[in-house]
Amino acid sequence: MSGGPLLRAQYLESLGIDRYVRRQSGAPAAAAPAPVAPTPTILTAPLATAPSSGDSDPRWEPLAAEVRACTKCGLHAGRTQTVFGVGNRHAELLVVGEAPGAEEDRQGEPFVGRAGQLLNSMLRAMRAPRETVYIANVLKCRPPGNRDPAPEEVRCCLPYLQRQIELIAPRLMLAVGRIAAQNLLATDTPIGKLRGAVHRFGTQGTPLIVTYHPAYLLRSPGQKRQSWVDLRFVQRELAQLRASARSAKG
Ligand code: URA
Repeated sequence: MSGGPLLRAQYLESLGIDRYVRRQSGAPAAAAPAPVAPTPTILTAPLATAPSSGDSDPRWEPLAAEVRACTKCGLHAGRTQTVFGVGNRHAELLVVGEAPGAEEDRQGEPFVGRAGQLLNSMLRAMRAPRETVYIANVLKCRPPGNRDPAPEEVRCCLPYLQRQIELIAPRLMLAVGRIAAQNLLATDTPIGKLRGAVHRFGTQGTPLIVTYHPAYLLRSPGQKRQSWVDLRFVQRELAQLRASARSAKG
């Protein structure tokens, strides 16, 4: 898996998160520059990296074809293409955003614009690089002008995501942003109150954690430190879920 402490420190730096080394006792303040401290110890194994290519589950292609041809809501009229989702179909972690933006609509892949670059840094910082996770959105088509998804659009589109979740069977979901979180959890609770807890999604009760949307973090970089708190929470939770699964196997 990519990353050592130095690489990880660079990712954290790209998130704008400073880290400090504890000063040697007695050392003068001036002699204590703030290079990178060792990564805080979080007991996490890097995520599984099974590639999605070669996946022979026959249920994926009919689902993808159905999404490509979808005309259930008005958004189909304005799309360049649908944005199905990307990544490891055996991922432990499923990241769910809101809806494709202009760049995603053009490329047919979620989170490929500026917010996507930051999401990639966030994922690397938590030792779950993009290719190890699965990434999808609540909506498969771009709302015009990037407006919020309408309830009817979510109602039409969410069953596709639900079927993806059944196929992936992730250990944990990470909802990025208010829109994803509120729609997945069917609540209007503010995002600040949804963070810091493990929620449950769907009939399988998949554990779900909420964090800020990378586009919001680009606008409000002061919140990046809070998002790092969430990402460490994800790491700890995944480690625990893995351990429980191991002990359940016996
Ligand atoms: N924002 C999202 O929520 N999803 C994307 O795919 C891109 C930007």
